[in-house]
Amino acid sequence: MHHCRICNHPTETFLDLGPMPLANAFLLPEDFLREHFYSLRAAFCPSCGMVQIADNPDPEDMFHGDYAYFSGQSRYMVQHFQGFAHSVRDTLGLGPKDLVVEIGSNDGTMLTNFASAGFRHLGIEPSGNVADVARAKGVETLVTFFNRETALAVREQQGPAAAIIGANVVAHIPDMHSVAAGIKALLAPDGSFVFEAPDLASMIVNGAYDQIYDEHIYFLSASTVAHVFGLYGLTLVDVQEQWVHGGSLRFWLRHSEGARISDAVARQLAKETRLGLGETKTYDAFRRRCEKSRDQLRQVVGDARAAGKRVVGYGATAKGTIVLNYCGLTPEMIEFVSDTTPAKQYKFTPGTHIPVLPHGAFAADYPDYAVLFAWNHREEILAKESQYAAKGGKWIFYVPDVHVL
Ligand code: SAH
Ligand code: TYD
Repeated sequence: MHHCRICNHPTETFLDLGPMPLANAFLLPEDFLREHFYSLRAAFCPSCGMVQIADNPDPEDMFHGDYAYFSGQSRYMVQHFQGFAHSVRDTLGLGPKDLVVEIGSNDGTMLTNFASAGFRHLGIEPSGNVADVARAKGVETLVTFFNRETALAVREQQGPAAAIIGANVVAHIPDMHSVAAGIKALLAPDGSFVFEAPDLASMIVNGAYDQIYDEHIYFLSASTVAHVFGLYGLTLVDVQEQWVHGGSLRFWLRHSEGARISDAVARQLAKETRLGLGETKTYDAFRRRCEKSRDQLRQVVGDARAAGKRVVGYGATAKGTIVLNYCGLTPEMIEFVSDTTPAKQYKFTPGTHIPVLPHGAFAADYPDYAVLFAWNHREEILAKESQYAAKGGKWIFYVPDVHVL
C-alpha cells in the first residue's frame, strides 16, 4: 500500500498507466536491453488531498549530466520566463543588491534576465549538462539538489534571499517537506517564494493524463500548496493562472507573519472545490476519460495506417513518452518523432523505440498525419507549420480529446 508523502495516510490509486520507462530517457539501440521500467500509478490522498504518483524512481536516475530537457528550446518559453522574471522584479521592487535564487534553473533561461542586469543570483540545478549551458551564459549555478541542507548552506555563504523562484521543479521533488523547510530557512524576512507548476485543475479539465510521469511527483493546487507550505510558516498570498505547460499556476508565498492574502487565492480555492479536486469520484471519472482517450487514439492512428497513410509524432516530449507507452503505439504505427533538441535527435523514444529525428525529416517529406505531442506549444507550432497544413497534412490531437484537424 502506498502512503501519502505529505501526511502518511494511505492513498487511493486512481490510474494505472502500467510499466513505464523514464519519460525523458531517450536512448540508443545498445541500451534497449537494459532499459529500466517502473510501475506508474497516480494516487489521491483522501486525507490531505494531494495527488501524486505512487512510486517514484530515484531523482539521481532522472537528473544527471545527460538530462534531455532544455528550457530554451521554445521561443515562447524564453519570452514567458522573461515575463516571469520581470514580474518578480517589479512586484517585489528588487534591485541588483538583492539575492535571487532559482531552484531548477536548468540552462539559465530564467536567471539570465537577472544575471544580465547585474543582480546577485544563484541557480541550484542538479543536472550538470544543462547547468554548463547556464554558466556559459554567465548564470552562477550550483550543481546540486535543492533541499533543506542546500538551503542552509546557501544562506550561510550568501545570506538570505529576497526572492526564491522556480518553474516546473517544486512538484518534481519527492521530499516537499524538505523543500518547504529550506525555503523557510533561506528566505529573507520580507522575501517571497514564487513558483510555477502545471496545475491539477488544468490536468483534470483537459484530460491531460500525459502530465503524469516519473518527474512529476505531485499535481499541485492552491489548496495543497497552501496546506503544505502552511505547515512551515509560509502563506500563499497570491495565485495567477498561466497558459504554459497546458495550464499552470504561479504561486506567490511569504512568511506567514503579517502576510496579506489576495482575493485571487479564495477564487482559486473556490474553483478547485467546484471541480471536486478533493473528491474521490473526480479521479474515477478522470480514469474513465483516459481509458476512452487511449482507445480512440489507437483507433485513429490504426485506421490511418490501415489506409496506407504515414503517421509521425511532433515533439519528442516527456508527455509523448507516456502517450506512446500507455496507448501501445509502435514504430510500425509512428514512423518517427520530429524534435528540435540536439540531445534527443538520433536517439529512440523510451519504451517504444521510435526514432527521434531533426525537424528537417518532417519538413523534407511531409507525412499524412502528425500527432502533436508538444500540444502545449500548439499555437507556436501550428503557426510555424502552416505549410504542412496547406499541403494537406493533418494534425492529430489527444487533448482535451482525440480529434483530427
Ligand atoms: N525550470 C526549467 C526546467 C524545468 S525541468 C523550466 O521550467 O523550463 C526540471 C528541472 O529541475 C531540471 O533541470 C532538473 O534537473 C531540476 N531539478 C530536479 N530536482 C531538483 C532539485 N531537488 N533541486 C533543484 N533542481 C532540481
Ligand atoms: P515540452 O513542451 O516542455 O514537453 P515535456 O515537458 O512534456 O517534455 O517539450 C517540448 C519539446 O518539443 C522539446 O523537446 C522541443 C520540442 N519542440 C519542437 O520540436 N519544435 C517546436 O517548435 C517546439 C516549440 C518544441
